[in-house]
Amino acid sequence: MMSPPRKATPPAFSAREFRASLGMFATGVTIVTARTAAGERVGLTANSFNSVSLDPPLVLWSLARAAGSMLAFSTGSHYAINILAADQKDLAERFAARDTDRWAGVDYIEGVAGSPLLAGAAASFECFNRSRYEEGDHVIFVGEVERCSHRSDASPLLFHGGRFYTEHPLQADASAPQAPDPRFVGGYLGYLLGQASHSVYRDFGNAVAAQGLTHIAWRVLALLHDARAAAGEAGDGAVAVGQLARDVLAKQPTVTKLVQRMADEGLLVLRADPQDQRRTLVAASEAGLRAARILVAEARAQEQALLAHWSASEVDTLKRMLQRLTTGG
Ligand SMILES: Cc1cc2nc3c(=O)[nH]c(=O)nc-3n(C[C@H](O)[C@H](O)[C@H](O)COP(=O)(O)O)c2cc1C
Repeated sequence: MMSPPRKATPPAFSAREFRASLGMFATGVTIVTARTAAGERVGLTANSFNSVSLDPPLVLWSLARAAGSMLAFSTGSHYAINILAADQKDLAERFAARDTDRWAGVDYIEGVAGSPLLAGAAASFECFNRSRYEEGDHVIFVGEVERCSHRSDASPLLFHGGRFYTEHPLQADASAPQAPDPRFVGGYLGYLLGQASHSVYRDFGNAVAAQGLTHIAWRVLALLHDARAAAGEAGDGAVAVGQLARDVLAKQPTVTKLVQRMADEGLLVLRADPQDQRRTLVAASEAGLRAARILVAEARAQEQALLAHWSASEVDTLKRMLQRLTTGG
């Protein structure tokens, strides 16, 4: 057998190439925490985590030699590795930043030797500081896991190429592993969407009525509110009646009558299209915009309350899927 060469050939690639190639390895994100000998909390964001051995249970991560927390980690008896959930991106950024109070407002409980276990983490490993290997500009830490736990409903935060990803590609599958509902009513998409729509709109109907509007009038105002915002300084965001009818899913004669009535009430401004005098353009008046802004704020607040316990990526996935259903994509 040939003996391995005693020395590596010096790199023929740039540091940039090395980093970019490493960036192709997608990882989760952890915050490794511990206590200094004086009892102060330390913690940093690290994605160098990996599993080593099942029996005994060993994991590893590596710490830059220059890291401020090196003394605490290399001399302490224990540390905790917190695997971050998708909605903890802010914590990941904060625990990688310098000159900031990383612990301000952070919710945690104390693990072995006081190492902080972060609330809301997807999983945690409480490790005995078993061994350390100095290699290059980092020290590899091997930890022996004394305790571990995970949240089965959590979706992990992902990282690669210098960016965080909060939407897990398998999230939709992972959140729906149960067998399909055998009842027609309980499982039919139309029924589910109808019930969901009822939950979303239940209280909002009162807010619309309080502005003296019907539901369809609110939809017209909401569309014109967005059109006005999109037009910016360039104009009043006027939309042709035909287009409005398509967007609110109503027949054109119905919408023609409705916009006339809303114009009489001072909510809309109508004018002939200069390109085609037979077409009527509709824009929200200042009074119409005021009513729309009140309702938009109310709708957002109610949506937030309804989805308070959903993660940002769950909300994003739900909306994307509904948009896909709407466009038939
Ligand atoms: C996603 C991500 C992963 C990181 N992984 C590591 C790592 O594995 N090891 C490390 O030493 N630093 C890593 N860092 C950088 C540290 O979090 C950063 O340098 C931190 O300021 C070190 O803190 P300290 O100096 O208080 O120890 C990572 C940063 C980010 C954003």
